[in-house]
Order: sequence, then C-alpha cells, then structure tokens
Amino acid sequence: MTAVGRTGELPPGAAEPADAAPPVAGAPPAGGAPPGEAEPSGEVALPAEVALPAQDALPAEAARTSAATIRVSGLRHHFAGPPPVDVLDGVDLEVPAGRFVSVVGPSGCGKSTILRVLAGLLAPSGGSAEVAGRSAVGRPGQVAFMPQRDTLLPWRRALGNATLGAEIRGLDKKAAEADARALFDRFGLGGFERAWPRQLSGGMRQRLALLRTFLAGLDVLVLDEPFGALDAITRRELQRWLAEVLGELSRTCLLVTHDVDEALWLSDEVVVLSPRPARVVARVGVPFHRPRAAGLVTDTAFVAAKATVLEALGLTE
Ligand SMILES: Nc1ncnc2c1ncn2[C@@H]1O[C@H](COP(=O)(O)OP(=O)(O)OP(=O)(O)O)[C@@H](O)[C@H]1O
Ligand SMILES: [Mg+2]
Repeated sequence: MTAVGRTGELPPGAAEPADAAPPVAGAPPAGGAPPGEAEPSGEVALPAEVALPAQDALPAEAARTSAATIRVSGLRHHFAGPPPVDVLDGVDLEVPAGRFVSVVGPSGCGKSTILRVLAGLLAPSGGSAEVAGRSAVGRPGQVAFMPQRDTLLPWRRALGNATLGAEIRGLDKKAAEADARALFDRFGLGGFERAWPRQLSGGMRQRLALLRTFLAGLDVLVLDEPFGALDAITRRELQRWLAEVLGELSRTCLLVTHDVDEALWLSDEVVVLSPRPARVVARVGVPFHRPRAAGLVTDTAFVAAKATVLEALGLTE
C-alpha cells in the first residue's frame, strides 16, 4: 500500500498526467503524415493507454500470488484548480483477478480520476491504488487503459494505431498486425485498415481505440466509457464481444460507464459512487452465470438489481 503525499505530484521519473502525455523520441510516423497535414516534429506524445511498461519487474512469486488484481483503498484526490475541487473522498474498490467490475456515478464525481490513478498517470492526494500487488502510482504500463477521449495518433493509419500498444510493449509487429486485421471486421472497421483517423467517424474512432487497448496484450483492462459514443446496435455487438473475449481469456476489467444496463450485464459487481467528492454508496453483486443472454435484461432479478443501482444513484422517487 502506498500513501501519496502532495496533491497530484508524481515521484521523480514518473509519468506526467494524461493531459501532458509523456514525450517520447519518435521516428517519423509510419506511413507518413495524412494528406494535407503537417509532418509531426521528432517528439511524439504517446496516448495514455500505450504508456511504456514499468521498469522494475514484479518478482515471480509476487506475480503468482497477487495475480492480476486491482485494489483501491481510501483513495482521495484534490485538484488545486481553478476551481479547486475535492474529487475523491476515500474510495475503496477491488477487482479480483479475472473478474469484471463496473463503476457508475454522476458526471464529474471522479470516475475518470480513479482510472487515471490506476493507469499511473496521476498521483492521488491520499490512499492507495494497486495493480497486481504493486502501487500504480508513477507506474504507467501496468494496465491497458482506454481513456474517455480517444487518443489516436493522427499520423498513423488505422492499422498502425491498432498495433501501437503491442509495438511499444515489444511484441512481434507482424503477429500484432495479423491479430488486428482479424478483429477489424468484428469491430465494424473492415476495409478501413489503411484509413487515417480523421477519415473515421466518432464511433469508428472509439472502436479503434478499444481495439488498440485490447491488443496491447495486458491482463488488466481499465476502460473509461469505451462504448459511450456508439449507436445502440454497435454498442450491443461490442459489449457481447467484450464479454465473450474476457470469458475466454479471463482478463481483469474495470469499466466506467453511465449505462446501468451495460454495467450489470457485463459485470460481476457494480460499484456506485456518490456525487463529488465521490464515496462508494453501494456495491451491487451480479449473480448471473456466463455467458449471459441478451434477454437477461428483462429477468426479474436483473430488474431488481437495476432498481438497486438506480436507487443508489438517487434516480428513483
Ligand atoms: N486535470 C484536472 N485539473 C483540475 N480539475 C480536474 C482535472 N481533471 C478533472 N478535474 C475535475 O475533477 C472532477 C472529476 O472529474 P472526472 O473526470 O474524474 O469526473 P467523471 O466522474 O469521470 O465525470 P464524467 O462522467 O463526466 O466523465 C471534475 O469536477 C473535474 O472538473
Ligand atoms: Mg469521466
């Protein structure tokens, strides 16, 4: 457990906050700049979800015993502003290895702040955040993080963006490309492998960012509203895909969403946060077997669980 001292300050050598992604000496972009766009300079800002892995390796025994688990304890955060805001007020949550937990809460309560701490991009004012038994603070690259805003590199084609996380982790580029190509259709991106990000719709960009996060090949996924900009049909399709893939590969996943049905359908537990400064006001277990049928949403027990979440959110009379 690591308590952190001064607000938002990262230890020496740690990553900058996501707003100022770490600069990395970069070669000119693969495939050149998009037509009509200037060549980027030699320094390239990496998107947060492909931040470089932490330097120090986890001892084998610790890796085996702690597995891929997220543990957040007494997490507090204050942004100096302006305006100054107390965002988190002692948040506790846990995602056991291979499990899926969703976080729901009012807009602005601090959900993304929690994920940024877990991604090693923001040092909290207090409390601890651990991934696989190690503090996440100042250690980007322990989780595959999909930020709320997509961070596609405009000078890489869709395929190059999809494989970026895998490339940075040193995985085989050809294998990553083959994996990516196989998933382009599934993500509704078939035929757009050579498109530039600016030639994609908002929903397509979001799907590409999710694909990249997944292909980074890390066991712990931290997803900030990955389906937020999608139409209902694509959203459903990708929720199903995510549930299937996570079922097969048993990755650990923490998801932020505003969609209560989505949270319940995908998760083993839904954590409900209060308005800012966020506290956990409810934890709702989701005791349904997997794979889950689409029709589950009309099941009496599902409807009851949904009512519990909505009540905790203050959305029922
Ligand atoms: N870098 C920052 N500097 C100052 N204040 C910030 C910063 N990032 C977030 N905040 C503030 O912290 C609060 C929580 O922001 P956060 O993005 O975590 O909310 P959220 O729960 O993810 O909201 P939403 O559901 O709208 O995405 C907001 O009041 C926001 O203005
Ligand atoms: Mg957010």
